[in-house]
Amino acid sequence: MSVRVEVLFVCLGNICRSPTAEGVFGEVVKEAGLDGRIVIDSAGTGGWHAGEPADARMQRAAKRRGYTLTSRARQVDGEDFRRFDHIYAMDHENRQDLLRICPKGLEHKVELFRDYDPKGRGEAVPDPYYGGDRGFEEVLDIVERTSRALLVVLRKEHEL
Ligand code: 4NP
Repeated sequence: MSVRVEVLFVCLGNICRSPTAEGVFGEVVKEAGLDGRIVIDSAGTGGWHAGEPADARMQRAAKRRGYTLTSRARQVDGEDFRRFDHIYAMDHENRQDLLRICPKGLEHKVELFRDYDPKGRGEAVPDPYYGGDRGFEEVLDIVERTSRALLVVLRKEHEL
């Protein structure tokens, strides 16, 4: 039986950073021929934008690099901690908020996404929501680089 790994990317609103991670990591997985072996989703610690598509500015920036962001925002819930094998927080506050609602014994699933970034281990993916266009490009740069590094680690860990 082939191994299936389920990963969840989480930010605050689930309309900028985590939908980008979902879309970009999905492409990286597809390019590696691992479509279907790794299941990918995203969610927000907050629920204000639930049901909305990704922010139009984020969608445009992603589209220019060939990514189509298709997700609709939703708020993370307790079941996510049981279902997903790995939960990647986009910043430190997201990680703290996740750990606050994480069922006991599942805390090991919650990690900081950029702990896999070879150029910025331990740093946050900066929130682009209130800034200018450069912020969306920076999110894409970070997410592209970190997604490639993350896949290498997941392949090794799960023998994919
Ligand atoms: P995200 O960005 O967490 O990357 O989706 C944000 C989106 C919305 C808000 C903040 C950050 N907001 O305050 O509504």
